[in-house]
Amino acid sequence: MSEEILKAEGLRKTFPGVVALDGVDLGLRTGEVHVLLGENGAGKSTLIKVLSGACHPDAGRILMDGRPVHLRTAGDAQRLGISTIYQEFNLVPQLTVAENLALGRPPRRFGFVATGRMEQQARGLLERVGVDVHPRTPVAGLGIARMQMIEIAKALALDARVLIMDEPTAVLTTGEVARLFAIVRQLRDEGVAVVFITHHLEEIAEIGDRVTVLRDGRSVARVPADTSRDELVALMVGRPVGRQYPRRLPRRGKPLLEVSGLTRRGAFGDVSFEVRAGEVVGMAGLVGAGRTEVVRAVFGADRYDEGEVTVRGTRLPPGDVHAAMEAGLGLVPEDRKGQGLVPQAGVAENLGLVTMRDATRAGFVDRARLRSAAAKAAERLGIRMAGLDQEVRTLSGGNQQKVVIGKWLVADARVLILDEPTRGIDVGAKVEIYELVNELTAEGDAVLMVSSDLPEVLGMSDRILVMARGRLVGELRAAGATQDDVMALAVAEVEGSHAE
Ligand SMILES: Nc1ncnc2c1ncn2[C@@H]1O[C@H](COP(=O)(O)OP(=O)(O)OP(=O)(O)O)[C@@H](O)[C@H]1O
Ligand SMILES: [Mg+2]
Repeated sequence: MSEEILKAEGLRKTFPGVVALDGVDLGLRTGEVHVLLGENGAGKSTLIKVLSGACHPDAGRILMDGRPVHLRTAGDAQRLGISTIYQEFNLVPQLTVAENLALGRPPRRFGFVATGRMEQQARGLLERVGVDVHPRTPVAGLGIARMQMIEIAKALALDARVLIMDEPTAVLTTGEVARLFAIVRQLRDEGVAVVFITHHLEEIAEIGDRVTVLRDGRSVARVPADTSRDELVALMVGRPVGRQYPRRLPRRGKPLLEVSGLTRRGAFGDVSFEVRAGEVVGMAGLVGAGRTEVVRAVFGADRYDEGEVTVRGTRLPPGDVHAAMEAGLGLVPEDRKGQGLVPQAGVAENLGLVTMRDATRAGFVDRARLRSAAAKAAERLGIRMAGLDQEVRTLSGGNQQKVVIGKWLVADARVLILDEPTRGIDVGAKVEIYELVNELTAEGDAVLMVSSDLPEVLGMSDRILVMARGRLVGELRAAGATQDDVMALAVAEVEGSHAE
């Protein structure tokens, strides 16, 4: 048995109206991967913020190597060898990759930042995590998956004894997850204690050794990582969860979204499809296939060179988000922090955001009605909050995602584009979001769902469009299709095109 390097006892933390931690115990051994499991809002991120000095507990204590420690700042924790990757990224978008990797401690020469040495260090770290970007690239232009890998590289730079990762795989693709797991295993074998948070239950047995389950701010169980999925779910949720993919058979109506010949040179070409009332159409493909680019162009968030987008019979002017919203189109973007929310504003205000914008244009806002619509959406989505005015930035990650979806409920969008909608959402809440998709389509709305989660695409779509290299390369009926069928289409095109 290896020794316990970090121990937390009876941690408590309250925020106005919320008890985030209500007596949490945790023991970390050297050379283990310790998984933290719990529903959205259970207290996982708060716990790791306390362990990393970013947040101060009201009660309880933390011991390192058996001695009590006081973590007043994140710097205190880092000096003790505790390195943390937070759920919401901490990168500075305006700085380059190398500058971000050196943040706080750039190599200096005669008092000046030694750029050459800094870039060289960055190159080594990037290689270790397998990310192919130039150190001088500004972080702002990178996709969300690459940003995550850079966060990981940043944590590696610190030579940690305890490495804490809050949902590192939420935005990674299968290949990147494999890469991350290889790094985590190596660190574990070198004796690092790793704390790992994930909502992907299948990852637990693969990477974890032990699991601590949090429920309502309490540590309710500690079990081995090979505990069965059902048992883990029962421990974290405390009630039975419905069927995982409850898609009901659709009644297809008129086409609500028609896209034809959509092209942006260098990004995607000749993309044509339709989504009918009552339908859920999935969009699958490898990362980089162009799915997010296409849906952003459809919504008007980005331009396109050729093609047409028609929503409920109205042809949309290109690059005009307002026209898209007026026609009843909504987009839940993959990057909620960058594009979905106003973090300092309250829940109700965020939920009313789209509607407000429209109404202000029309010169009239019925605030009372908007607030009651927001309350209804929050209830329908089961948003866990102290109240409608809680600042969105203080909601748990999964609950922020629910607010992004909720905006479009309040705005009464009839055609909803969901880009990776259940990222960071716990098992129980996922089912609730799928039920919501069922309700919306039963009412005659149309849903286009981009997702890298193949079981989700197969389980919740009626038809699946497959993209590769900026083109639509195939369409499948979801019933009877397998993950292999989808992957075969997504990959074949990529391999085939090398011969061109
Ligand atoms: N700064 C804050 N102010 C007010 N409430 C907060 C603050 N930080 C966290 N909370 C609340 O504490 C509770 C626990 O949140 P936490 O972020 O720890 O959940 P989590 O388990 O990480 O959930 P998720 O899986 O959604 O990321 C939530 O109810 C959240 O709204
Ligand atoms: Mg969290």
